[in-house]
Amino acid sequence: GAQPVPPPIKDTSLKLVNDALHPWRPLSPGDQRGPCPGLNTLASHGWLPRSGVATPAQIMDAVQNGFNMAWSTALVITYAAFLVDGNPLTNLMSIGGSSRLTGPSPPAPAVVGGLSRHGTFEGDASMTRSDAFLGDNHSFNETLFQQLVAISNAVGGGKYNVSAAAEVRFQRFQDSVARNPTFDFSNPRFATAFGETIFPMAFFIDGRDKSLALDLEVMRGFFQDSRMPVDFHRRDGAFDGGGTEFDLIFNSHDYFPGFNNGSVNNFVADPFFLGTQTVAACALYEKFVNTTVELYPSPSGVLRDALNKNLDNFFLGFADQCTQIKPFP
Ligand code: HEM
Ligand code: MG
Repeated sequence: GAQPVPPPIKDTSLKLVNDALHPWRPLSPGDQRGPCPGLNTLASHGWLPRSGVATPAQIMDAVQNGFNMAWSTALVITYAAFLVDGNPLTNLMSIGGSSRLTGPSPPAPAVVGGLSRHGTFEGDASMTRSDAFLGDNHSFNETLFQQLVAISNAVGGGKYNVSAAAEVRFQRFQDSVARNPTFDFSNPRFATAFGETIFPMAFFIDGRDKSLALDLEVMRGFFQDSRMPVDFHRRDGAFDGGGTEFDLIFNSHDYFPGFNNGSVNNFVADPFFLGTQTVAACALYEKFVNTTVELYPSPSGVLRDALNKNLDNFFLGFADQCTQIKPFP
């Protein structure tokens, strides 16, 4: 069953996190890694179970302790993902593909697909992973990384900085418009795609380095090998995923939520982007609730209790501005 949300960590200072207790280790058979270089790295350093199967509380603790992601950001991302990709009965989720380690699943249409499952949380136009329609949506893709390198050399002075991030985001968007007839850039992808371009600058640069420019070989280490550099220190102070860098990237091109309407080069606005809401954040909240209902149309007993607890936990991230939706009375 579900557990309460763990409290925020108390010490958010700069700290060595590639330490003696958290050495990088190669994968063992069955270990799960997936589309998120942050969680992959935490698992390969033992901040998360090395199996890649974890509880929401373990994920929230690990992203705070290992990278200093803000509690509120960790809460929203973790529970959004857990509701649509995790196993509410065992309280376990795979950060990669589906795994026996998450235990017996609830009945279909529930999926318990793990983070690599396309369309629930994972989506198109990722920086270093292919669109699911075009190939492997969870493994490091050298061709895509080389495009990121070329852009960083052209506009970032040879590093991944905010200028490079803005152009990478746009190039990946344009590539999907041009090549993926099923390209989907509506919620939740519209909400996650921009923040994820900031995360490497916020979390993968050593906390003692204030340049906001990420070395490309260090970046490759995180994205390809799930590996922190030697002596890596987490950032000083928690980061909530927003800020001026986010605004700069978001405003650098004329983005709107939408999808390719059945063919390439046919990107149209999503008319249902806001759902029944007026505030974009509440629309994102509603979207994850609706996906949860699609997966669990009429839960009962312990399953319903667990889903309701996790929905309550997820709503904590939106309580200041949205009205709670209670799909399972
Ligand atoms: C991408 C989940 C925390 C960095 C993703 C994706 C998922 C995910 C499902 C794939 C989205 C896509 O590109 O299609 C999560 C969950 C987290 C979490 C559940 C729990 C809090 C973090 C942290 C970091 C991070 C702490 C950095 C330290 C990234 C980056 C990408 C990404 C950079 C984009 C990868 C790319 O575009 O190639 N995450 N994530 N994430 N995540 Fe995480
Ligand atoms: Mg993706």
